[in-house]
Amino acid sequence: MDVRAVAAMALSEVFRQGHSLTSVLPRWQTQLSAKDRPLLQELCYGVLRWQPRLDALASQLLKKPFKTKDMDVHALVLLGFYQMIYLRVPDHAAVSATVAVTTALKKQWARGLVNGVLRNFQRQSESLLATLDESPVSRWAHPHWFIEKLRHAYPEQWQTVLAANNQYPPLVLRVNRAKISRDDYQQQLLAVGIESKPTPHCKEGLILTRAVDVETLPGFVDGEVSVQDSAAQLAAGLLAAEPGDYILDACAAPGGKTAHVLECQPTVEMVALDQDGGRLERLHNNLQRLQLQATVVTADAAAPELWWDGRLFDRIMLDAPCSATGVIRRHPDIKLLRRADDIAVLATLQGKILRALWPLLKPGGRLLYITCSVLPQENVRQLNAFCREQGDAQELLISAPWGEAQTIGRQILPGESDMDGFYYACLQKEAAPTP
Ligand SMILES: C[S@@+](CC[C@H](N)C(=O)[O-])C[C@H]1O[C@@H](n2cnc3c(N)ncnc32)[C@H](O)[C@@H]1O
Repeated sequence: MDVRAVAAMALSEVFRQGHSLTSVLPRWQTQLSAKDRPLLQELCYGVLRWQPRLDALASQLLKKPFKTKDMDVHALVLLGFYQMIYLRVPDHAAVSATVAVTTALKKQWARGLVNGVLRNFQRQSESLLATLDESPVSRWAHPHWFIEKLRHAYPEQWQTVLAANNQYPPLVLRVNRAKISRDDYQQQLLAVGIESKPTPHCKEGLILTRAVDVETLPGFVDGEVSVQDSAAQLAAGLLAAEPGDYILDACAAPGGKTAHVLECQPTVEMVALDQDGGRLERLHNNLQRLQLQATVVTADAAAPELWWDGRLFDRIMLDAPCSATGVIRRHPDIKLLRRADDIAVLATLQGKILRALWPLLKPGGRLLYITCSVLPQENVRQLNAFCREQGDAQELLISAPWGEAQTIGRQILPGESDMDGFYYACLQKEAAPTP
């Protein structure tokens, strides 16, 4: 099958059904030979990265929008623009290859239309692209509500964050220090022609200078290495588990941070809980590959009365469900799928989980709250509200060369030291105040 046709169908599934690209793409990849899969990935991620801009372009050139049943043709038009603007495919080649896909999609009626739109763009590209820069949505290729929230939260940095969100994310590895040192692994990579540099803020991280197929990494199958962004690799150090600690990873799947904690401190007793059984399957596979052990529980973290046996935890890691607005560069479909209204719903859920888990922590124990969001409502405001009402919660100050100190916790903005956007706050439970 033609790679552009597959891309149009995969994208129309995201547009029409609101499914994430990560959930849709693997099925479509099986329709293609291995050599075409990287291009499918490039086309789908690229179109979603620039969609608000490409949509604005389409609406300038189309008399009326496509019907829902023709979202594949809409996707095809965006694919045409994407190749011409960002992949520097020569215009005539991009137009003819894109137009030809109408036949594979069984939408021959759209042939003339797609051809006309792409040729019109080709003729007037300079003036059309200039017009796009007049509106923040098409200039920055982000939804209006998000630009506004970001501008409000970060009056100095919002444009840098938007620009960082539109960059290709780096491939970052976490070396399993229980098996091999970072230096030795870096040498192994070099021996097979893969260059990397150590991440500045975490001891196990290596940033690859170009993306590779993960399965081909030396020692991957034997658990020497995993893929994990450098910002996510900060969690294990902040949790600071001691030998023998009893730890709850409350939203654990697919297990990136669970595994890192276990690699750093193999003698801890870990309960890895998540409410999503499918994602826990991936956690299970990851732990198996890395030869690590945890008690895996499928349950709602906000309802411990249904699964907790009364034994207090020394450490709780709450990597809360969030808007994922700090990882847009890795998941550009967030721009399309996340709505302004979601934020309050997520903040309520985070608060509910946080309040439900606090009683499970030992006095003197530590809770690490994490999100991959850049929105204060899910981060600093959430934690301030919690600490105001929870007399026995004390902030443990994170003093670090990364991120920016908030009134509580630290915020990393996307792109800083080539990291994803993350928020971290550390709380310690004090002995109950005497009445
Ligand atoms: C940010 S992800 C966790 C990523 C994971 N910690 C890692 O490092 O690989 C958030 C997780 O929260 C889970 N989740 C959402 N609501 C939950 C709830 N009420 N109880 C337990 N898990 C929940 C989701 O299924 C998702 O796996």
